[in-house]
Formats: sequence, C-alpha cells, structure tokens
Amino acid sequence: MPSWAESQRLLERARHTIPAGVTSNVRAGERPFPLFFAHAAGATLTDVDGNSYIDYVLGQGPMILGHSHPAVLDAVERAMRRGQLFAGQHELEIEVAEALVRLVPCAELCRFGVSGSELVQAAMRLARAVTGRTLILRFEGHYHGWFDNVLLNVATPPDQAGPREQPRLALGSAGQTASVCEDFLLLPWNDLALVEQLFAERGHTIAAIMTEPMMCNTGAIPPAPGFLAGLRRLCDQYGALLYMDEIITGFRLGLSGAQGRFGVTPDLATFAKALAGGFATAALVGRRKYMERFAQDVNHSGTFNGNVISMAAAAAALAELERDDGALYRHMEQLGTTLIDGIRSLAQRHDLPILVQGFPTAFHLSFTELAALHEYRDYALHCDKERYARLKVALLKRGVRVLDRGVWYISAAHTADQIAQTLDIFDAALLEVREL
Ligand SMILES: Cc1ncc(COP(=O)(O)O)c(C=O)c1O
Repeated sequence: MPSWAESQRLLERARHTIPAGVTSNVRAGERPFPLFFAHAAGATLTDVDGNSYIDYVLGQGPMILGHSHPAVLDAVERAMRRGQLFAGQHELEIEVAEALVRLVPCAELCRFGVSGSELVQAAMRLARAVTGRTLILRFEGHYHGWFDNVLLNVATPPDQAGPREQPRLALGSAGQTASVCEDFLLLPWNDLALVEQLFAERGHTIAAIMTEPMMCNTGAIPPAPGFLAGLRRLCDQYGALLYMDEIITGFRLGLSGAQGRFGVTPDLATFAKALAGGFATAALVGRRKYMERFAQDVNHSGTFNGNVISMAAAAAALAELERDDGALYRHMEQLGTTLIDGIRSLAQRHDLPILVQGFPTAFHLSFTELAALHEYRDYALHCDKERYARLKVALLKRGVRVLDRGVWYISAAHTADQIAQTLDIFDAALLEVREL
C-alpha cells in the first residue's frame, strides 16, 4: 500500500482556498481522493509522495505523445522566447490551420480557441446562424463542455431520465437556467429509427445534430453501422448541419479523426485535447461556405485564441503525429490491442464479467453481463460502477493510473514493457476485486 500522506496534506491545504481542493469539478470525485502530482515524463506520472504510475489517464486525453515530449517542449520554448501574445496574427496559426485542412476531411477553414467548451459554443452559434433555426439535437450520455446551455443529460440518473424513446432534458448543475432546455432535442444514441421519426416530425426546425462520433464520455461506444451515415443523410435532406464534437476522438482515433475512421464527413467539427500535446488549445473546423460567416456576421472572439504557445505546441504535436505516415498510430494501435487482449484473457481466467469496448487508443472497461454497450442507458443501468471503482483503486495502489469512469487512453510513449507490467498488475488487482 503506497503512502499518500503528502497528497492528503496538500488536499487539506488546498481546501482552505480552492472549493473541494480542485480546479475542475471532474477531478473532485477521483478515488480514493484527488492526488497531487510532482512530475511526469513519457507514460509515467509521479505523485508528491514519490509513487510512480503507468498513466492511462493522460491528462484526460491530451497527452497522446506522452508527458513532457521533447519536440513539443522545444518548439514551445523556442517560440515563446520571441513573444507570447500579440493581439495580432502570427505565422504558426496558419501552419496549424494548414495541417488541419490537410488532415481532417471536413476542414476547409479553421478557428482557434483555448478550451473545447468554448469552441462548442462557436459551433452551435454558427449552425444557428447558417440555418436560421434554434433547435439542436443531442444525445444522452454525450458531454459537450460545462457551459450553461450544454451541461445536459451527461450522467442523468436513470430514474430521472424519462422514457427511453422520449428522454427528458435534465440540467447538470445548480445555477443553470431551465430555459436552455427549450433550445435542444434529446434522443438515445445509436437509434437511427428514432432520429428518422423526429426529423419526419420536426426536421425543418432543426439547426444541427451535435454528436460525439464515438461516445467517449459514457463508455467508448462506437457508432452502430450506418448510424453516422444516417445522420448525414437526414441533415442533407432537411437542411440541418451535422456537427461532430471530436474533442476526444480528434487525433486519437487517427490522423483524420473519427470522421476519417468512420468515413462520414460532417459540416463542422471541434478538436481540442490531443491537438496540442498537452497545451491548451481547441479548434473549430468546417465547410468553407459555413465557416466564412465568421468573416461576415457571426462573432467568435477570445484574447488567448491562437496564442503563440498553443500554436507552437499544436504545430509540433501534429508534426510528430504525422511523421512517417502516422507511424505513432501504428505503435499505439499495436500496444492497445495487446493490452485489450491481455485484459480480456485475464478477465476470463478470473471468471469476471468484464467488457472491453472501443478502439486500441481509447477503450472502456466495465463490469457487466451485457455483450456490448450501445447507448447511455446500457452503462447507467447495467454496469457495476462500484466494482470498477474498487478495481481502479486496486490498480492505483500497484502503480497503474486509470480514469474513474472506465476509459483508458494509450499514448505514443507507452512501451511494450509497460503494457506487460500493466497486465501483471491487472492480474493482481483482479484477484483483490474478486475476493471482495
Ligand atoms: C466531447 C467533448 N466536448 C467538449 C468537451 C469540453 O472540452 P474542455 O474540457 O476543453 O472545455 C469535452 C471535454 O472532455 C469533451 O469530451
């Protein structure tokens, strides 16, 4: 059992000046309690008590190249010594935009911001401006940031979620105004027949469909065959925009994002996390005919948009990811596959009902008797979250850090040795969880 005494001490201290001791509510629920970290390099994190962990949290996704990647740090250091923020343009912005246009199918024009949440707002504003309509269709279990008008139905308790075919829009926080619900429609994910029915009734009033192209904020649930293509067809038929929120999937499922991997091109897409090797930046990209509205009558602003540090990091990270025709993705896919196969066979050996779902670079692990998760309610109703939480802590105690909600990310810095080590630790952790 490692000592977490220094983390505990710092958390107590933090609580005097920071609510819950954390600066993002997402971190408050971490089991056994929110830890403090001292440094990180490659796929290894070290906490303030000197415990090291093989890291599958990766800063909630951004550290796709691993922590403290030298090429990213060098690029940032070189660039920031020439200035940080000009309230004006600089060439790195164009470099990053050109890379996005080269790599992402729907990207003809780009805008940058600092966080994913902001760019979601820009996407919705643009879709509403383009169509002259207000309603946006979204799906249960998808997360699109913490802002007032989108923190809806991410983790609604099933007894408050309403009937499956007509789910109830539910606020995610005290302080949100209930009227934001009037601007959205809500359905379960992966059920094209329900979307078709809704469009038949109200399609001409819908501005956009907003969707994670693989549901990564609940499970790691791929789109059902034909689902994304069906959304594309309905948007075209009824004059709505298809907006994919690729803030997790972008540069994680591949160089062309989920849209490239699944072969369905949206009108708009947002990218953030894996875009800039751990530095804060986000992008909205899309069709020229729509994005041009930012040059006309749609406002998108921000003091720190396209700042030198973010753009230098993004340019360097994208160059690494693109190198040798995406060699790092082949490495990550191989390691992720070995890890998933190993987890599945250990689960079988321990006779535990563990489901692993998703892709090698982003997969989800749950205790469930279901053969697959298809939508939010499968996770909410049929997965044993308490048992997973115990597994999470059993792994942490032995030197493997994973997210509490079951998603595991792989980075280019993980090694075959670390995967083997992880599987040994997983074996021991399952023994503990099985005996509980
Ligand atoms: C799909 C999706 N959209 C939006 C966001 C919000 O991004 P940020 O946390 O950078 O504001 C997230 C964050 O996890 C996300 O997963």
